[in-house]
Amino acid sequence: MTWWGTEVLGRLPLTGDETVLDAGCGSGRVTEELACRLPGGRVIAADAAPSMLVEARRRLARFGDRVTFVECDLGRPLPLDGPVDAVFSTATFHWVPDHDALFANLAGVLRPGGRLVAQCGGAGNVASVRRAVAELGETWPGPWTFATPEETVPRMEAAGFVDVEAWLHEEPTPLEPGEPTETFLATVVLRAHVDRLPEGERAGFVRRVAERLPSPTLDYVRLNLVARRA
Ligand SMILES: C[S@@+](CC[C@H](N)C(=O)[O-])C[C@H]1O[C@@H](n2cnc3c(N)ncnc32)[C@H](O)[C@@H]1O
Repeated sequence: MTWWGTEVLGRLPLTGDETVLDAGCGSGRVTEELACRLPGGRVIAADAAPSMLVEARRRLARFGDRVTFVECDLGRPLPLDGPVDAVFSTATFHWVPDHDALFANLAGVLRPGGRLVAQCGGAGNVASVRRAVAELGETWPGPWTFATPEETVPRMEAAGFVDVEAWLHEEPTPLEPGEPTETFLATVVLRAHVDRLPEGERAGFVRRVAERLPSPTLDYVRLNLVARRA
């Protein structure tokens, strides 16, 4: 996933002195690469999870005050001091339930003409896992918003973006069968599902999902976004 982030970062043209918001910085792995591309600029590393920000602070300490950290929910207006030159985000937007609010909040902190470059899970993402979960009788669709480009372009335009490009691409990802797959499902893909179950039912649930997967390859689908603030 960090490699995917590196690839997406390559789509963001930078001169090196901009201020860039990393929306959903997580533990800061991709943020670190972003900060390296901004020797005269600044990164605002934003995330909703305090534990992620603790790890990101540790990883990015060497950049000193060129990186600042903001604990915030991208679904709410963002508490930044001034506008940023660009918004960058990877593997995060699908965790935000209201994409209209998300894009309005991002447009609200981006200077006119500033770019947004992002990637997140898109329509069809991990469909095999979601199918397996449904076969087990679980009716909760999960915490994600896996949107299509057709839904996303008008949302972004309504929020004040222009030159919006949105496309899906498949990123089939092989998993090591057995215990590594179950651990990956439990800690990454199905974490929210597992958290809702009593302790004693978690391992069995994950094993039954893993057994139902048609192949040891996870069917990731990414939604790619490139746009400019009007
Ligand atoms: C899979 S991580 C991605 C981290 C990093 N961007 C990367 O590509 O490695 C997703 C991050 O989104 C954050 N997140 C989820 N919902 C959020 C929200 N509503 N507002 C801000 N951050 C959120 C999570 O806390 C998590 O750190």
